[in-house]
Amino acid sequence: MPKVMVCGRGGSGKSTLVALLARELATRGKVLVVDADESNLGLGGMLGMEPPEKTIMGLLGGKRAVGERLMARLRGAGDEELRLFDDSLTPADMPADVASGDGTLSMVRVGKIEHSMEGCACPMGAVARSFLKGVSARDGEWVLVDTEAGIEHFGRGVVEGADYVLVVVDPSQEAVILAEKACRLAEEAGKPRCVVVNKVDAGVRQVLDEKLARLGLDAIAEVPYSESVARANLEGETVADEKLDATVRGIIAAVEAGLRA
Ligand SMILES: Nc1ncnc2c1ncn2[C@@H]1O[C@H](COP(=O)(O)OP(=O)(O)O)[C@@H](O)[C@H]1O
Ligand SMILES: [Mg+2]
Repeated sequence: MPKVMVCGRGGSGKSTLVALLARELATRGKVLVVDADESNLGLGGMLGMEPPEKTIMGLLGGKRAVGERLMARLRGAGDEELRLFDDSLTPADMPADVASGDGTLSMVRVGKIEHSMEGCACPMGAVARSFLKGVSARDGEWVLVDTEAGIEHFGRGVVEGADYVLVVVDPSQEAVILAEKACRLAEEAGKPRCVVVNKVDAGVRQVLDEKLARLGLDAIAEVPYSESVARANLEGETVADEKLDATVRGIIAAVEAGLRA
């Protein structure tokens, strides 16, 4: 089953959508949420769980250790591909110290910025990429990757480990431009992709659709602005709104169809 990378501009609703999708998918099977945004701190709250204490980066000895392995590889001394995990890793058997959740809905974090001046985030990209390539979801299992804002994870090759790219667009010019770029990069990587518009209301729907259409993009779903979602995020509580359930199920069906196509 699929590994879905959720991307879009900052604030478009990536984490919110990951949380809404994860909750629905967890009623059907195992879901692993991979927090690949090193600046994201609220995803655990949105999912209704404590984030795991240890990051995958920590499991691998920390950023410096991973950075050294990367440098060795650049010098030709290491493996060609930074293989940090073997292919037998599945959402069901994440190492206990890096995963939180109830085993049906679980969460891992790639790494976090811990200190000022700690250096560039390249090791984070390498770990996210390797982890995602290594993890294989069995039938009925889903992996949802919450990425950082922008398109750097495409440049870092994180997309290689994903089966599908879901681009979130909120009503802004910036989000639309970024969505076009993300869709083209997904296509270049040979991955099926879709656009979901978020936080729309009647006032902006038409303008947003026209903007997307001009760029050859067509949203598979529109997630309306939700007071409950906004409030839950403000309170740091589990994100939920039953009025969005049908839309969320529609997104899942569209992703499944896109993967079959
Ligand atoms: N459908 C929605 N309705 C209302 N508010 C939303 C919705 N989606 C996201 N938000 C709000 O938008 C803000 C950014 O959402 P978030 O998921 O953190 O974005 P990202 O992960 O893309 O940076 C949050 O304050 C969240 O409450
Ligand atoms: Mg986020």
